[in-house]
Amino acid sequence: MLRAAGLVKSYRAPSGAALPVLAGVDLAVKAGDLAVVSGPSGSGKSTLLNLLGLLEDADAGETWFDDVRVSGLGRAGKSRARGRCVGFVFQAFHLLPGLTALENVLLAARYVGRPAGEARRRAEALMEALGVLERRDHYPAQLSGGEQQRVAVCRAVLNDPPLLLADEPTGNLDDASGAVILGALRRRAEAGGAVVVVTHRPAAVGGATAVYRLAGGVLEAA
Ligand SMILES: Nc1ncnc2c1ncn2[C@@H]1O[C@H](COP(=O)(O)OP(=O)(O)O)[C@@H](O)[C@H]1O
Ligand SMILES: [Mg+2]
Repeated sequence: MLRAAGLVKSYRAPSGAALPVLAGVDLAVKAGDLAVVSGPSGSGKSTLLNLLGLLEDADAGETWFDDVRVSGLGRAGKSRARGRCVGFVFQAFHLLPGLTALENVLLAARYVGRPAGEARRRAEALMEALGVLERRDHYPAQLSGGEQQRVAVCRAVLNDPPLLLADEPTGNLDDASGAVILGALRRRAEAGGAVVVVTHRPAAVGGATAVYRLAGGVLEAA
């Protein structure tokens, strides 16, 4: 599903000096894989996920979604590929505060023009499976962290993206809520999704098919 080769990325420090983050990262994730990435704070894990999900451009290297070289697409093409292929889950949930839980989940459907009734049925089924359907009319501020993240997972998978990228999705959660989220990600992989999870606690992820460590700008099997 996903292949990245030779990803290089630097940022600029405020002084203008180059700040190298990724120095040539290779990664392949196929349907059914649950790949786990750990590494020290500041090692570039979020940067890597942002590159894989086409939120940012690499300085060098290539990324393919199936046989499409998405790194070669223009801005609009990348945005389309992202909308069709990628679901994101973030540590800080990133729900829109002015929308209810259900509206947040349905937001994803807008971008792909899914018929409203069908999207709503699917959203409610996902919310039921994750135990947040009774919270559908709550606003994010009225939800616990664990509930917010369950809603965020529903939003990320609403369009059935072949690739799911999760950046420390349990970092702000207690162990029980974290286990619910990790279970949902694992089931997603078991159902044929390609899933990449960044986490400080790789041991907490059951069912991982590969475990990597990012350090010094390179990704290695852990
Ligand atoms: N937009 C940016 N501009 C400048 N430096 C950045 C930017 N984003 C991240 N960095 C720096 O890049 C390094 C890697 O960041 P990040 O990918 O967030 O690491 P991690 O997720 O592993 O903690 C850090 O040193 C961070 O300060
Ligand atoms: Mg990070």
